[in-house]
Amino acid sequence: MKIAVGADHGGFQAKQAVIEHLQSKGVDVVDFGTDSEESCDYPDIAQPVAQAVSRGECERGILICGTGIGMSIAANKVQGIRAALCGDTFSARMAREHNDANILCLGARVTGLGLMLDIIDAYLQGSFLGGRHKTRIEKIEA
Ligand code: RB5
Repeated sequence: MKIAVGADHGGFQAKQAVIEHLQSKGVDVVDFGTDSEESCDYPDIAQPVAQAVSRGECERGILICGTGIGMSIAANKVQGIRAALCGDTFSARMAREHNDANILCLGARVTGLGLMLDIIDAYLQGSFLGGRHKTRIEKIEA
C-alpha cells in the first residue's frame, strides 16, 4: 500500500515518527512535507496530499497538524476525499468500515504518539463494509 503523509510544523515531529512506523510495516510512504518545525500553512500540505489520493496516486493519506482540524477541513475540499479526524482507535476503525475514509487526520498537540500509532494501525486494518454505508457515501458525493 502506498500512503501519502503530510504535516504542518505542529505535526512535523509526529510525522517523522509516523513515517518510521509505517515503513517498519513495509508500507510505501510518500512524504509531502513539511520538512522542519518552521511555521507553515496547513492547506499548502493538505491540498497536494488530498490530490494524490483523489487521483489514485496514493491509496490513502495521513495528515497531521496541531489539532488535525485544519487538515481535515482543507482535505475535505478536494473532490472524492473523505478525511476523518480521529482521536481514538474505535473512530479510526469506523472511519474505514462505515465512512470509507481515504485520509486520516491526527492532532499532534492533542493525541500522544503512542495512541497516534495505534489509531493509524486501527485505520489501516479496517475495511469498508459497503452495503448501506455505500449508499450514504454516494449521497455525499451527489
Ligand atoms: C498551527 O499553529 C495550528 O493552527 C495548526 O497546526 C492546526 O492545529 C490547525 O488546525
